[in-house]
Amino acid sequence: MLKSMNSFLLVTDLDNTLVGDDIALNHLNQQLAKKREQGEIKIVYATGRSLYLYRLLAREKALLPPDALITSVGTEMYFDLNSPTFDAEWAEILSQGWNRSGIKAIASNYPALQLQPKSEQNPFKISYYLAQSVAQPTLNKLQADLQQQGYQIKLIYSAGQDLDLLPQNGDKGLAVKFLRNKWKIAAEQTIVCGDSGNDIALLQGEEKGIIVGNAKPELRQWYAANHNGTLYLSQTGYAKGILEGLKYFNFL
Ligand code: GLC
Ligand code: MG
Repeated sequence: MLKSMNSFLLVTDLDNTLVGDDIALNHLNQQLAKKREQGEIKIVYATGRSLYLYRLLAREKALLPPDALITSVGTEMYFDLNSPTFDAEWAEILSQGWNRSGIKAIASNYPALQLQPKSEQNPFKISYYLAQSVAQPTLNKLQADLQQQGYQIKLIYSAGQDLDLLPQNGDKGLAVKFLRNKWKIAAEQTIVCGDSGNDIALLQGEEKGIIVGNAKPELRQWYAANHNGTLYLSQTGYAKGILEGLKYFNFL
């Protein structure tokens, strides 16, 4: 639960959203740290990275410790980074309708798909590299194939290179809803921020959304077709764009 009407939940993607401009990141961090001292903010990172890759980033960049961490495109959630255990309640929700080996067997028939490293695979996420030049026909065919064999899953393509296969119940946006429910925080008091395809699920909910000025084409295209009063496209990029959006929504 948040303290007052001035309080908010900030959920942000990391790569090319919060992270990308170190000076702007430090500046934003200072403002967020002040808010946090007053008990007026909760901070959540929602990243495509695994916990392993998150830790590598956290070693390099000055990230404020989050109140919760959503990793692997919404398929894992952590509340205590000192003794990280995958949240079991969330795992139970993800497992519904998901058959990892069956889905992987179908995808393995596609030579255009190259498995990402082991660290980026988990029980509820299968990730590939897929070149932009062949992406659309490959995605169409794979989607049809999966459907034909009875699999209802999510195909999320990001940054012209990454394809994530996820359970129907899992993505960054659904992970945030789960958290809001747990913490009893309204959508109006929540800000979500992103730059690429895997952030669409984050931005399409009822929360207020900031799209940073350096957003990738797939997210810009989506914004052009879907923008509404709860979304703001910043002029500036990275952490500066987040700050711009927070001011626009009167949260800072
Ligand atoms: C991160 C993850 C990768 C995923 C990508 C897009 O880079 O490491 O597995 O495919 O985000 O969601
Ligand atoms: Mg990103």
